[in-house]
Amino acid sequence: TLKFEDVKHLMVDRIPSRILNLLRLIGSYGEDKKMPVYVVGGFVRDLLLGLENYDIDIVVEGNGLEFAKYASKQLGAKMVEHEKFLTASLFFKDGFRIDIATARTEYYEKPADLPQVDISTIKKDLYRRDFTINAMAIKLNTKEFGLLYDFFDSRKDLKEGLIRVLHKLSFVEDPTRIIRAVRFEQRFGFKIEEETLRILHETLNGGFLEKVSGQRIRQELEKILGEREPLNAIKRLAQLKILKHIFPKTYFTSVMEKKLENLFNNLRIIRELYKKVNIFYSLLRILLEYYDIDTLKQVIKKYGIPKKFIDEIKATETRLPPLLNMIKYKIRFSDIYKVIGKPSAETAAHIMSYIDEEDSKEYFVEYLKRVFSTKLSISGNYLKEKMNVKNSVEIGKVMNELYCRKLDNPSINEEGELKKILEDET
Ligand code: CTP
Repeated sequence: TLKFEDVKHLMVDRIPSRILNLLRLIGSYGEDKKMPVYVVGGFVRDLLLGLENYDIDIVVEGNGLEFAKYASKQLGAKMVEHEKFLTASLFFKDGFRIDIATARTEYYEKPADLPQVDISTIKKDLYRRDFTINAMAIKLNTKEFGLLYDFFDSRKDLKEGLIRVLHKLSFVEDPTRIIRAVRFEQRFGFKIEEETLRILHETLNGGFLEKVSGQRIRQELEKILGEREPLNAIKRLAQLKILKHIFPKTYFTSVMEKKLENLFNNLRIIRELYKKVNIFYSLLRILLEYYDIDTLKQVIKKYGIPKKFIDEIKATETRLPPLLNMIKYKIRFSDIYKVIGKPSAETAAHIMSYIDEEDSKEYFVEYLKRVFSTKLSISGNYLKEKMNVKNSVEIGKVMNELYCRKLDNPSINEEGELKKILEDET
């Protein structure tokens, strides 16, 4: 097939004019500096697929930092340099950002290490990338603006829906690509190409994924959680036995799949109730359930998870069976409160992942809303001064009882109820 094709018409049709103009300007700076410049990667892939993508990655043959400096001055954009990688980012006033890199080949001192940078040409730059569909470039220099560079039959794979590595060592050089392959496959409804799948398994069996830092694995998993259908990718990770190389003691069963399905279905509700919910922790709450403490300690260290994660998962594990019954039989809110109080977002998500019946789910959401909305207007001080209760343990107990009564019945008269509580106690 043709290695070079004019795709200017596609660009004009599909790219918003503001971005198209920016690309033309960047091309003209390439002319000024006598450097070939390209837009590469996901932007090109998605342009050909007809999908919106405004993550602009520019590659320059020549000194990318010098080019970035020139472009930032011309465009009035703020520049942040990453000298070690010969890359820079330009930030526009409205927050829009483009990344500029020097064409490079990466060689790896040892597998799973961070890349070293070396100056080279666009073909080599593209060759070091993860998959053929991500390894195209479009020239931006004015005279050749819109010329697609397709050295590796990327368009063919795009048409046939194949995720294919560019060379045999791709996964060894960067084992996180094992996870990326699944993410792209599921995002686009593609298939990992046969030989690529063989190499993927070979690399997995070679233990290369285990050498990658938790931080980088976590990033890739978080990217999956940012996809539209994360469960499909997680299922595929399990099916291809990749998940076993990430969490060796996790057994992906249909029960676990159901819990994950509930988790993703409930996220919208949880987000409405809680401002912040960590989806990664919520996922791990399910994947790491019933792990032994020693393994849990290793896992949280590897992935940079706070220690309280262990306390929370263990506390939830022991409370779940009684709690689920209480929810099922719609026991009073105050009794549920005595078991879990005001749960964190992740604990709430965890509990809800176990609830399959719609009316139980509604009852629990009702509970959460009630806990959030119930506030006492009377304080402990009132007890101390007006009712002459001095013992602080006693005050805590009485206030808690008052709160519980208000949970069950928001319209109580707090002062009247307080008197009843004190009478009951004596
Ligand atoms: N890349 C790679 N190996 C990796 C990560 C990234 O080769 N482990 C390359 C890919 O060619 C990719 C480019 O770097 O196109 C930018 O990476 P990233 O922004 O993570 O991916 P995108 O392709 O832009 O995908 P997305 O649509 O998810 O942003």
